[in-house]
Amino acid sequence: MEKKISIAIDGPAGAGKSTIARRLAQEMGYRYVDTGAIYRTVAYFMDLWGVSPKDVDGVNRYIDELTIGIEYDEDGVQHMIMNGMDVTGDIRTQEISQKASLISAHAVVREMLLDMQRDIARQYDVVMDGRDIGSVVLPKATVKIFLTASAEVRARRRCNELAAKGQKANFDQVLKEIQQRDYQDTHREIAPLKMTRDSVKLDTSEMSIEEVIAAMKTIIGEKLGA
Ligand code: DC
Repeated sequence: MEKKISIAIDGPAGAGKSTIARRLAQEMGYRYVDTGAIYRTVAYFMDLWGVSPKDVDGVNRYIDELTIGIEYDEDGVQHMIMNGMDVTGDIRTQEISQKASLISAHAVVREMLLDMQRDIARQYDVVMDGRDIGSVVLPKATVKIFLTASAEVRARRRCNELAAKGQKANFDQVLKEIQQRDYQDTHREIAPLKMTRDSVKLDTSEMSIEEVIAAMKTIIGEKLGA
């Protein structure tokens, strides 16, 4: 099989990874893989079974009961299928965000998802976003980009997103949750969020989505042309 192209996009919560990765994948005709959604699905499943995300024994006991499927609709939107059920809408709450961050620290969870993510990248050209794509999942990715922005800007963007969905958001609360997730995601023992030496860093605090996409296309174009 010919070697596939992979664009790895890592960065903290709310840096704009999914919006940008989805757009890029669409424009390039690649498959978009939102790996955070897979961790969210695990968190949602454990939550349904009443397993605390910090309960190592509980997570180990229930994980074998979980089958995760990923499907794409005609618009290229990624759907998460949990034991045959579409949970795409259910995993997008603040509560599941926090639980996903905690659940992602478990070795058994990361191992299960690692194979799944690598399998997709073996089969398709991908734009994959997450926390450990460039460092662990696809260390030989064709292009690695680290997207970041100040915690305040990320919290503001999250509040706007929630408002657009008609959900109330308190800025201070959202900021606190983002800072807590940043801490958890960068301090866990296995595959913590970090920028690899071969990543290109893009601070999007002062950039619009269009500017970020243009900058990323330049970075990708230079790598692919090289
Ligand atoms: O990208 P997101 O906010 O949907 O991710 C939810 C949580 O999942 C995040 O706080 C940490 C975890 N995660 C991870 O550990 N590794 C990834 N590649 C993607 C997400």
